[in-house]
Amino acid sequence: MAMLATTQVMAQQSVGEDIPQKVDSVMSRMTLEEKIGQLNQLTGDGEVTGPVTLNNSYQDQIRQGMVGSMLNVNGAEYTRKIQKIAVEESRLGIPLIFGYDVIHGYKTIFPVPLGESASWDLEAIEKASRIAAREATAAGQHWTFAPMMDISRDARWGRVMEGAGEDPFYGSMVARARIRGFQGEDFSKDHTMLACAKHFVGYGAARGGRDYNTVDMSMRRLHETFLPPFKAAIDEGVATFMSSFNELNGVPVTGSRELVRGLLKDQWGFDGFIVSDWGSIQEMMPHGVAADKYEAGELAMNAGIDMDMEGHVYIQELKNLLEDGRISEEQIDDAVRRILTKKFELGLFDDPYRYCNVEREERVILSKEHRAFARKAAAKSMVLLKNDKVLPLSKNLDDIALIGPLVQADQEYIGTWSARGESKHVVNVMEGFRNKLGEGVNLHYAKGASFTGGDKEGFEKALEAASNADAIVAVVGESAMMSGEALSRMDIGLPGVQKELVLELARLNKPLVVVLMNGRPLAIPEVDQAAPAILEAWLPGTEGGNAIADVVFGDYNPSGKLTASFPHAVGQVPVQYEHKNTGRPKVESQRYTSKYIDGPNKPLYPFGYGLSYTSFEYSQPVLNSQQMNFNETLRVQVDVENTGERAGEEVVQMYVRDLVGSVTRPVKELKGFKKISLEPGEKKTVIFELRADDLAFYTRDMEYKAEPGEFKVFTGSSSEDVQSARFKLLAQ
Ligand code: BGC
Repeated sequence: MAMLATTQVMAQQSVGEDIPQKVDSVMSRMTLEEKIGQLNQLTGDGEVTGPVTLNNSYQDQIRQGMVGSMLNVNGAEYTRKIQKIAVEESRLGIPLIFGYDVIHGYKTIFPVPLGESASWDLEAIEKASRIAAREATAAGQHWTFAPMMDISRDARWGRVMEGAGEDPFYGSMVARARIRGFQGEDFSKDHTMLACAKHFVGYGAARGGRDYNTVDMSMRRLHETFLPPFKAAIDEGVATFMSSFNELNGVPVTGSRELVRGLLKDQWGFDGFIVSDWGSIQEMMPHGVAADKYEAGELAMNAGIDMDMEGHVYIQELKNLLEDGRISEEQIDDAVRRILTKKFELGLFDDPYRYCNVEREERVILSKEHRAFARKAAAKSMVLLKNDKVLPLSKNLDDIALIGPLVQADQEYIGTWSARGESKHVVNVMEGFRNKLGEGVNLHYAKGASFTGGDKEGFEKALEAASNADAIVAVVGESAMMSGEALSRMDIGLPGVQKELVLELARLNKPLVVVLMNGRPLAIPEVDQAAPAILEAWLPGTEGGNAIADVVFGDYNPSGKLTASFPHAVGQVPVQYEHKNTGRPKVESQRYTSKYIDGPNKPLYPFGYGLSYTSFEYSQPVLNSQQMNFNETLRVQVDVENTGERAGEEVVQMYVRDLVGSVTRPVKELKGFKKISLEPGEKKTVIFELRADDLAFYTRDMEYKAEPGEFKVFTGSSSEDVQSARFKLLAQ
């Protein structure tokens, strides 16, 4: 009771003060041990994603004021119970922040983020995060470890699935949309939560695509490609950052004073707090830059990491480090201040239980409205990769064969990082087709093959079912556990014998639709050759089967475009649209030019690519002037017409090339896009604006600015399918 009284006094005293003063007032009562406690984050008994050292004793540690935040503690009732320990049983009663990986939904699961990004629909992306936040906050969560904004150009890396693809411009816009969705306008509302910009930085460039592996890159590449989404996150007001596991040019980022304290806090002025990744402070020992936890803690605190996620380094070592003068009290105070500020902003000092409301949890989670939006979001994310007049299928066929390991594999639809998503809520393709078609159409199912292994025994049944059908829908791809953290692959083809299965089905010469479900770009040149129709459906989430049926039967006209190139073969990786020309650009007939002797340079399906059930015709881009000054805006105008028979949406894209620079520039860089809808026969004019700022890059002297000279601007329907015009940026 005495402890409770202390808390109440604190709450009352803070009324009327602004947050910095409230924080100071709390800090003035804290012992050094209690301050260090705020920097300590432990895992509860939910899912864990790394080695757990001291599990189960966390309740005692909370009581002793040794914990500032918990992750993996879930549910309104359970978070209330744990919060109660902090508030009523610790000396100062400082509430905990509960954090969780709410990556693509909480219980209502949306498509994996890579898939979701293929919608190019920022409003929809924002709304999905908003819904995820509504559900997660109703279950007691204050903080999501999302969005992941790592650019990656390596489809072998399993975490490609969690990002928005290969492009820094688009990746920045998606990151911002997701942050807006999670955070809303005001943290103190009970349905908004802190977002986390992760993983800072370079994690997506792991050598060989192997998770956690070394990263080595030029500072120019880091600044031009990998940092922009993180800068955009700050501009959007992101509350927290997470440092990455990887080393970058020899220094683990968690110990990088230059990047974390120097760039992020000092130069960019980030004023939220930074959490390490799971155990990444102590992992500086195996990295080989710290001999023990003491040194690891010293490196991390000096680098500016505020909170230690499940590493137990700060709690054990910071006091010693301070006594030895290896770190300063100001550093500790700064970290505590950042964390307490967020607790105040969340309103936790006013009501530590405001997010623990069982009634709201029951009402909000997996609501009809959320499911309906998950269905829309999944349909919007799908990319039509090929269609030789097969799709959409008629709803009046007599017999459809549904073949493949993913037809009814509910658990796979929600992918990894599916928070509290449950397979029992998933609508699979069989159910989705049944919902769409009723009982009038016969659906013949055969699994055909497993995800792995060489067993072809199931082929016979599959071929039999397929030979009697009017159309075949093969649902193939990766299982959930083939993309995500620590799930890198060497071979990025269709796993197991699924490719052979599809090739056999194609030999039947029937209308065949290959529906792909996967979390990364796949290399599928033979499937592309053999199958008349291919629909990329990603790991589509809770409403996946309904959404696939919507697209396959034409109730939704696909409008997604790839945000990561699909290579012909893993040997092309890394392959992306934004590449340099080289001194010997490829000329097929010339031997000594930059090319492969056994395949093309270009990917199978490029960035920005995706078909529709209708067709669009583009005009040449028209510029309002052939030249611009540094303070002028250039208008780029293009007409797009729907020349087909259905209404459809199109993502109109604009790219730029700087023809001569002080350093080499990419052959194309995305600088704008607009998603428009067109009725059959309708034509719209799309206008983009370009300013000198949009043409800026890190020059030879590492100054970020545009250089005068000749440019090309491209408009079109993908990074490959474009028309161009030229203009000049005049000297200042
Ligand atoms: C992942 C992070 C995640 C954390 C907490 C780590 O293994 O790299 O992305 O937020 O675990 O679950």
